[in-house]
Amino acid sequence: MIDNKTLDPKISETVDKLQRLFGAAPEVAVVLGSGWAGAVDQVQDGKHLAYTELPAFPQPKVEGHVNEIVVGRIGEQRVVMLRGRAHTYESGDCTGMAGALRSLARWGVKALVQTNASGSLRGHMPPGSLMLITDHINAPQRSPLIGEQGSHRFVDMSAAYDAELRHHALGVARGQNLVVGQGVYCWAVGPQFETPAEIRMFAAWGADAVGMSTVPETILARHAGLRVMGLALITNMAAGLSGEALTHSLTLQQAQLSGERASAYLGAVLSSFATLPSLHA
Ligand code: HPA
Repeated sequence: MIDNKTLDPKISETVDKLQRLFGAAPEVAVVLGSGWAGAVDQVQDGKHLAYTELPAFPQPKVEGHVNEIVVGRIGEQRVVMLRGRAHTYESGDCTGMAGALRSLARWGVKALVQTNASGSLRGHMPPGSLMLITDHINAPQRSPLIGEQGSHRFVDMSAAYDAELRHHALGVARGQNLVVGQGVYCWAVGPQFETPAEIRMFAAWGADAVGMSTVPETILARHAGLRVMGLALITNMAAGLSGEALTHSLTLQQAQLSGERASAYLGAVLSSFATLPSLHA
């Protein structure tokens, strides 16, 4: 449960620091998931700052992981990229990104682009596919908003993934002759992969892809007033759908194979956001 009494001063300090170091907020923040790290290379004039300098951001427990923000621009669009997210499977806590997302929203960021690696539940989206998230299924029914007060906590989730941002991203894909699917993302806490029976159940529920992130952040982002776009890189067929056992290294391998194409597309989408009036009003 989030302790707002201790989190709020950290958010204030974080926002002050972001403002002081980088000035006005970029309109767009991007969470880089597995396979998407290469997108950092698309950032021009990037300035890096470690999460350890930002008290409301998740503090890394393992040395060696990159945990930093990169503030810069892609073409004409200013962006802040988040390298490293707190996963629920690390601690059981699904509120790990609350301070970071609330700080970004208070700084003035308008939209959160979430990227992740996912397993596919559909034959027409094999490994290497990209999927824009239309909606999600919170399978564990966990909420990062437990303990929040006031009517504001009853967040509308009926259009959690922003249709305008998604359609804009689909237009960019069409312009590049790139096939990008659309579908429903289902959250499984992990860290174990799903069973084939769970995957059959998720498919019957209407899920198209499954992964261990994104959903808590979308809920937090909507609560903070951020628009959300989600982009999944399919790294494997989900459990029971391919005859192969699932391993982390296999998903990382596929993420690496497709990562360059995925990151190039992400860069093109972000750059084109500069032309979206609703982000620049
Ligand atoms: N299941 C859960 N998370 C994942 C998968 C998967 O099959 N692939 C990549 N992340």
